[in-house]
Amino acid sequence: MMNELLPIKNIFKNKDVVSIDQFDRRSVDRLFKTTSEIIKLNPRKKLEILKGRVITLLFFEPSSRTFGSFSSAIKRLGGITIDYQNPNQTSSAVKGETLSDTIKVFENYSDAIVMRHYEMGAAKRAADAALFIPVINAGDGSGEHPTQALLDGFTLKQEFGKLDELKGVLAGDLLYGRTVHSLIRLFNLFNNVTLYLLSPKNLRLPEELMKRFAKSNVKLVEIPTEKDIPKDCHFWYWTRVQKERFKDLKEYEKVKTRFILTPELVKERGNKNMLLMHPLPRVGEIDERVDSDPRAIYLSKQVKNGMYVRMGLLQLILGK
Ligand code: NCD
Repeated sequence: MMNELLPIKNIFKNKDVVSIDQFDRRSVDRLFKTTSEIIKLNPRKKLEILKGRVITLLFFEPSSRTFGSFSSAIKRLGGITIDYQNPNQTSSAVKGETLSDTIKVFENYSDAIVMRHYEMGAAKRAADAALFIPVINAGDGSGEHPTQALLDGFTLKQEFGKLDELKGVLAGDLLYGRTVHSLIRLFNLFNNVTLYLLSPKNLRLPEELMKRFAKSNVKLVEIPTEKDIPKDCHFWYWTRVQKERFKDLKEYEKVKTRFILTPELVKERGNKNMLLMHPLPRVGEIDERVDSDPRAIYLSKQVKNGMYVRMGLLQLILGK
């Protein structure tokens, strides 16, 4: 809505959510509290918090769970959606319309826009283009995916009661994976968190983020192999190698399943209280035998919390 990223500072009303950089600890706590209240309200019953509100889901990149999760969150809050998936194939974008024009048009139809885009920075551009309504980033290229980090953080807090003093592994595509880019930013708002980074050499966390967090609250430690995972981690966060970001698919083939989460690895390097997480979709990097492990929450708690956290966020941004 404005030209620079507005910090949330505990006031969510009508704010864009483009990056976790807009959050401070207090705002995260407020969102988590609102989310917990929503869970208690029993959201199976349709609420009226977004009654009369129309929200555009503008997804330039394929999505099933983030799209479904936002759609469900909006409808459970009593709002309705305009669903616009793959506009590059079906809309005026094919005819060459700019992102800014698309946003300005949909601003007339709706009270907020939730957007996923294949370009890093597109969410910020959309937020700048929208003068009257908030834009929520549902993933911008290899940039960020703030609502995913918020749901991951909520899930960890639910389990461990805090986000301070946690130890975790981030594994897979740390270069292009936007979920980890947002998650690291989120942990930086808390104290004494150590994240062990496990990725193929050519998919290491971008240098810029390594530098930025070198002297910060969050301690980033690169580890070369699975064997280096400390046994006392609170969580392992596995991710998919982002095929769509590779120019050369041969390079993708070489690294796509370099690190696989197996029951054997969990047995060898895990502990009984840890959580096994993944933002999904998985494409071979988690052995399906892990699914029945009670510590595996990627197909259950994490997904469910995705909907609840988005309900909480939408209530704070658009609710009366
Ligand atoms: C993630 C994304 O889109 O960045 N998916 C999701 O929203 N849950 C992760 C991925 O696609 O690998």
